[in-house]
Amino acid sequence: MQTPGRTKISDILSSKNSGKSFVVKGWVRTKRGGKNIAFIALNDGSTINNLQLVVDVPNFDETVLKQISTGACIKAEGILTESTGSGQPVELQVKNIEIYGTADAQQYPLQKKVHTPEFLREIAHLRPRTNTFGAVLRIRHAMAYAIHKYFNDNGFYYLHTPVITASDAEGAGAMFQVTTLNLDSLPKTKENKIDYSGDFFGKRTSLTVSGQLEGELGALALSQIYTFGPTFRAENSNTPRHLAEFWMIEPEMAFYEIQENMDLAEDFIKYLVKYALENCADDIAFLNQKDPELVERLQGVANTTFARLDYTEGIEILEHSGIKFEYPVFWGADLQAEHERFLVEKHFKKPVILTNYPKEIKAFYMKQNSDGKTVRAMDVLFPSIGEIIGGSQREENFDKLQARIDELKIPVKDLWWYLETRKFGTAPHSGFGLGFERLLLFVTGMANIRDVIPFPRTPNNAEF
Ligand code: 4AD
Ligand code: MG
Repeated sequence: MQTPGRTKISDILSSKNSGKSFVVKGWVRTKRGGKNIAFIALNDGSTINNLQLVVDVPNFDETVLKQISTGACIKAEGILTESTGSGQPVELQVKNIEIYGTADAQQYPLQKKVHTPEFLREIAHLRPRTNTFGAVLRIRHAMAYAIHKYFNDNGFYYLHTPVITASDAEGAGAMFQVTTLNLDSLPKTKENKIDYSGDFFGKRTSLTVSGQLEGELGALALSQIYTFGPTFRAENSNTPRHLAEFWMIEPEMAFYEIQENMDLAEDFIKYLVKYALENCADDIAFLNQKDPELVERLQGVANTTFARLDYTEGIEILEHSGIKFEYPVFWGADLQAEHERFLVEKHFKKPVILTNYPKEIKAFYMKQNSDGKTVRAMDVLFPSIGEIIGGSQREENFDKLQARIDELKIPVKDLWWYLETRKFGTAPHSGFGLGFERLLLFVTGMANIRDVIPFPRTPNNAEF
């Protein structure tokens, strides 16, 4: 379908249809020139590239031209010609301009200079109009599409799991509570605890930290499903890799054991990186100017075989590294980003999949190994990111799962439905979660996770 009333700048630039008349609409990036000729760089978001508009000043309405400045939104009509200047193949010889919205140069915050990411976060309502965020947002879209395409092409069903939940899937940190109770006068039980029986759902509920538990219910019927939705964690971690609201992709597969789970994770993530290289070339080339090793890093991951080893071997490598890490290394320690990045960037120089972690540092649902100490967890570790995927084979044995739940004192009344899948037609199964923004950090080369989501949610920040 044609875009009504205009031609997209991406289509104009790729068609090079000179001699023809076109209508374009977009936002002015810059205006320059003098008495005889003016150049306006116009961007409509369809591509990182601007269309150059050429205005014959003496024959143009001066009052209209005066109102056009960086940030203004205009409609322009003219004839496309081959460009005589360098930098662009074609330009539009403008006949008419209609102004939709001016942008006062004294007030418009996005002037033609380099702004810091911190400043741009304060104007997240306008930052999509910068080259960098335009590129990031187009890549974000392309990756979302590629994720659905990959799973659809491989016979997975998209399962919508709930955002509001009464169970804590991960024990992965604090949850955001959801309530309609009046917080100024909370109803109490006889034991002086908060009485949730009058709350909206008749029980205490929260925003989900993961769709996995419901995902497993789907996989144990449809064989292969995936979820792709927002997840919420109220952990107070102000790092460049944590958000309080992030998007997660969670495939879950019946009849997959841990090896097949790793194979899928590796194939999936390489597919996504290749998709970005092939389909987002202009945007990635632009981002590569800021981060000159970006393309090399992406190609490296797409064309390598990931290293696979046990957590125990990983700990041995770290212990013998001779490096004094900030967080201590010992068997049983939860690996920190500094450890993960050492393994990936210094030791193996490629992505690493670590398996068979100590059960104490992993979730209750992971399949227990016969050593009684480890579980069939797998984390995929990436250069400059650390953990990008976390997953496992699931414990499908009812008694073992029940025993672990008892050991950890997890309230079974909240999980009766989960346990029933192990009672009725249980099956070996596996899955993993890919943090969508961590993937985008890798693909775009951006340094802070706040800069790969349109409107980040972090401690003390829910603006926009
Ligand atoms: O390792 P996690 O906690 O695993 C799960 O939630 C499992 N239920 C997944 C599964 O097996 N279905 O989280 C999975 C991934 C992490 O590897 C990381 O990429 C991302 O989610 N992630 C975050 N991303 C941004 N901000 C946060 N606070 C994140 N916490 C986890
Ligand atoms: Mg994890």
